[in-house]
Amino acid sequence: MGKSYPSVSEDYKKALDKCKRKLRAFIAEKNCAPLMLRLAWHSAGTFDVKTKTGGPFGTMRHKAEQSHAANNGLDKAVVWLEPIKEQFPILSYGDFYQLAGVVAVEITGGPDVPFHPGRKDKDEPPLEGRLPDATKGADHLRNVFGATMGLGDKEIVALSGAHTLGRCHKERSGFEGPWTANPLVFDNSYFKELLSGEKEGLLQLPSDKALLQDHAFRPLVEKYAADEDAFFADYAEAHLKLSELGFADA
Ligand code: HEM
Repeated sequence: MGKSYPSVSEDYKKALDKCKRKLRAFIAEKNCAPLMLRLAWHSAGTFDVKTKTGGPFGTMRHKAEQSHAANNGLDKAVVWLEPIKEQFPILSYGDFYQLAGVVAVEITGGPDVPFHPGRKDKDEPPLEGRLPDATKGADHLRNVFGATMGLGDKEIVALSGAHTLGRCHKERSGFEGPWTANPLVFDNSYFKELLSGEKEGLLQLPSDKALLQDHAFRPLVEKYAADEDAFFADYAEAHLKLSELGFADA
């Protein structure tokens, strides 16, 4: 069953195309793809299927949401993006932040994630506490991604592969270090590193290790480590779903 997307004006489409170019240049220049992807994910990942609150509707522009503990450091992303957003007042913040996430994956060599515009901004930030806790295991991940966001095991593992980009910062999350040797390249090395065990200089969070211990998650980790094309295909599909939680319901 396909979703039915709202239609947007020709001017809106033109602005999106131009904005995408500006985002590519900006993210490349600043080497900030990981932070931009985290911004898009933390914006969308607050969606709650039961109450239909939260989700990728631009509420991260509010200080109240930036100050949630899980969002430490994302205020910087919002501030960096603002001069670009100001050039495109026609675009919703919801579309804009999700576009930044899609561009972050694209310019680091990851798959093309399809993008559909038309998210309407909400004013109310979601309740705090909906994003996953890195110190917990598989049950917690299924609760957060499954019961709250409405995503399944395949999406949990594929999306976790986004940790191929970026790193943890002690002053933001309390953890320190990258998951892979090339944190600015989007590839399947997160899964390879996970299987090869902890190494000096690289990090594995308890929530990453949970993917190895769970009997349904582990075969997916093995598949993605062996087959980057399979990872890219499933990642693109899962990222698309994440970016459209609560948007254009079928
Ligand atoms: C599975 C549950 C997840 C947990 C528990 C988790 C936890 C974390 C933590 C603790 C950090 C470090 C933040 C910092 O100190 O700067 C982080 C960074 C990051 N996360 Fe996740 N994450 C999860 C899933 C995801 C997903 C689904 C995505 C995207 C699709 C994602 C993308 C990122 C990126 C790109 C960074 C690096 C940010 C940077 O370098 O500044 N994560 N995550």
